[in-house]
Amino acid sequence: MISDTKEMSLEGDCRPIGIFDSGVGGLSIAKAVAEQLPNENLIYVADTLYSPYGEKSIEFIQSRVNEISNILLSKSVKALVIACNTATVNAIDQLRERISIPIIGVEPAIKPAAQQSITKNIGILVTQATAENNRFKNLIEQHRNDVQVHIQACPGLVELIEANKIQSHECYTLLTKFLETLLTKNVDTLVLGCTHYPFLAEKIRQVVGNSMQLVETAIPVTLQLKRKLTEQNTLNTSISSKQCIFFSSKVNTQQQQLFNDFWQSPLILQTLED
Ligand code: DGL
Repeated sequence: MISDTKEMSLEGDCRPIGIFDSGVGGLSIAKAVAEQLPNENLIYVADTLYSPYGEKSIEFIQSRVNEISNILLSKSVKALVIACNTATVNAIDQLRERISIPIIGVEPAIKPAAQQSITKNIGILVTQATAENNRFKNLIEQHRNDVQVHIQACPGLVELIEANKIQSHECYTLLTKFLETLLTKNVDTLVLGCTHYPFLAEKIRQVVGNSMQLVETAIPVTLQLKRKLTEQNTLNTSISSKQCIFFSSKVNTQQQQLFNDFWQSPLILQTLED
């Protein structure tokens, strides 16, 4: 079991929080963390070279999650956020068995969606690898109560987002195809079960209209992270040292631009070395 060593001072624990995803999707979580925990240092890793995880096998996803977690541990992170639904459902259990620092995963927000649905029909947009996962199916059974859950796998969407094609006709057409199926099922609440999809919220609204409730998980995940750090007495209370560092396993001009756009301010994207 890999354990942690604290670097405590009067100002708290300044070790960074490691956040990772297959690509830019996890920035939707990292942004909320940066806003809600403004004193924390963050290291964000995008595994773009191996994206999309949603089209890969469990074994492959687990091996990438292990690899990236080891790199982040070598950078002395005090907590890990798996900012990816696909990686969480496929790899968080095995990761928790070998790493002792807090690991916060992202799971589709089925419970709040089921509670707020009036038509008792919710839709959930996920990657193929999440749709097929047993942990995910159990989560639905655990939280759906008397609500019908309509799972919609969305192959191709993550690739379009990573290629900076959110505004393309291709993206709108694909999204419409996935959402129209759900609209025939009297769905009034839509769970965004992939951290890339909040970046499509505006496009989704163009297809489903404004009355549909969109449910995502950035704030609950951030609050869970804050609870864990508080419990462990590892919050950083210093206001002077905040840094966000960004790595990707595939750095090029297009990736750099995508990161700047999604983070909504210029940043330096560094190459992730194994
Ligand atoms: N952001 C990841 C998720 O939440 C995307 C997975 C992928 O790379 O396909 O599932």
